Amino acid sequence: MAIEKKDIDWGSLAFAYTPTDFSYVCNWKDGAWEEGGLTPDHTLNLSECAGIFHYCQECFEGLKAYTTKEGDIVCFRPDMNAERMYDTAERLCMPPFPKDKFVEAVEMVVKANAAWVPPFGSGATLYIRPFMIATGNVIGVKPATEYQFRILVTPVGPYYKGGVQPVALMVSDYDRAAPHGTGNIKAGLNYAMSLYPSVQAHSQGFADNMFLDSQTRTYVEESGGANFLFVDKDGGLVVPQSFTDSILPSITRRSLVAVAKEMLGLNVVERPVRFDEIGEFTECGMCGTAAVISPVGKVVWKDGEVVYGMDHVGPVLAKLRATLTGIQSGEVEDKFNWVHKVM
Ligand SMILES: Cc1ncc(COP(=O)(O)O)c(C=O)c1O
Repeated sequence: MAIEKKDIDWGSLAFAYTPTDFSYVCNWKDGAWEEGGLTPDHTLNLSECAGIFHYCQECFEGLKAYTTKEGDIVCFRPDMNAERMYDTAERLCMPPFPKDKFVEAVEMVVKANAAWVPPFGSGATLYIRPFMIATGNVIGVKPATEYQFRILVTPVGPYYKGGVQPVALMVSDYDRAAPHGTGNIKAGLNYAMSLYPSVQAHSQGFADNMFLDSQTRTYVEESGGANFLFVDKDGGLVVPQSFTDSILPSITRRSLVAVAKEMLGLNVVERPVRFDEIGEFTECGMCGTAAVISPVGKVVWKDGEVVYGMDHVGPVLAKLRATLTGIQSGEVEDKFNWVHKVM
């Protein structure tokens, strides 16, 4: 049965919140997750003493549902988001949401909002935001005893409206994550403290920050919302690793590494990347769910800059991006079985 889509100008949607028909909600109480299900209520009513407000027990994920060329509604590797959120919750002393239940909940909420999933070719997607908060009362510093897992979905527009454009980055004087801290998990608290440097970067005309490792300030870590990829002069991919485990394990990055190695036959090296060697690379990009790869045209710091090119996208990252977006849309064979059909 064909779904009647909402009357929306999909191509001109921004990356902004529009409430849809349903959210998913599931509470954790007395040591167990309840059944969980859909709700038309997009608001929460919480105690002023809920743990989320005081000690910031919150974690989240981000993935998207979209329509393939064949007309299927699919998600990209939701099991990986389930796993990352599981790991994040454990690190924050929150009850991990079962991975199978996570994928079922994603399917349930996407199906219920099928009319909000943008059509193939619009470039728009249904952004899926699973999150978990401490709802139980907490005064002393300790984990709460009650939690809520929720998924909101919202249609968002194409990341690049007029074709992929390189962006400029600045090297932040601030740090994103402490060594062996929480940089490798998707906790809201990491983003609260990245807002100040992010606002600074935007006010100076930069798209984002490049953060260096906070222990030695000599290695490249990541940006505020994406991992980095570099291309060396032999056309190989160089992927920054962290000595101090403070880079978020991007699902897009791990997928691109597999595509580079197993489909494109590229030489891939995952290693710590010194900031003073970024001028030796020929291409730089940021990778994440929203844009897949955002080409970086230049990186600027107090007394220097490296220019990769603000007017073109490098060939290696362009090919990588086209291959992964092709797999996602169903135009390139999905030999890894990454595309998860919802309906
Ligand atoms: C800090 C940070 N790094 C990297 C990523 C990219 O991760 P993914 O590819 O899983 O979207 C994100 C976005 O989720 C992020 O917030």
